[in-house]
Amino acid sequence: MIIKLEPINENNRDAVLALSVREDQPFVAPNDYSLSEADEANAKAPGTARPFAICAGEKIVGFCMLALDPEDENPVDRYCLWRFMIDKNEQGKGYGQAALHEIIRYFKENGVDTVYLSTAPANARGLHVYHKAGFKETGEIEDGEAIFVLKL
Ligand SMILES: CC(C)(COP(=O)(O)OP(=O)(O)OC[C@H]1O[C@@H](n2cnc3c(N)ncnc32)[C@H](O)[C@@H]1OP(=O)(O)O)[C@@H](O)C(=O)NCCC(=O)NCCS
Repeated sequence: MIIKLEPINENNRDAVLALSVREDQPFVAPNDYSLSEADEANAKAPGTARPFAICAGEKIVGFCMLALDPEDENPVDRYCLWRFMIDKNEQGKGYGQAALHEIIRYFKENGVDTVYLSTAPANARGLHVYHKAGFKETGEIEDGEAIFVLKL
């Protein structure tokens, strides 16, 4: 399956804003909120927030945002998968797992050796996908979310 991460630009922004998850998946912020957070972070420290459209061929199926901020005092926030979603109509087709591979590849290509993420313990699908990609719980809980780490 060919999945590509395309940096957010004027051609894909509206499509990304139109994506959403199911009502019973309150595990991720809406994409408009994430994109404004990205703008805010990048205004302070350019390049620290990297938002991407997740593309399956020509179709935009999801959104992710990576943090790469070597200056961040909290090691968990330094290199992390900050946001990750596949649109409710595109879930369960393997896109999430394929995108996660690309995300991990992106971190590796940028010289990162440890990636963090966090998710709610109730997010059964998320937990499955993260475990399958090799992420492990650190045992820490932050804001009700379990922290996961992957050594690259
Ligand atoms: C989590 C998410 C990104 C995964 O993307 P996806 O495209 O749906 O995932 P895939 O189709 O690639 O894989 C789904 C896997 O989960 C499994 N799965 C589905 N529902 C499950 C459940 N309730 N419990 C455990 N595993 C489940 C599937 O069997 C499949 O695994 P398999 O290939 O080993 O059989 C997507 O579902 C999503 O956006 N969820 C809502 C937002 C979210 O939780 N984001 C992450 C926040 S940290």
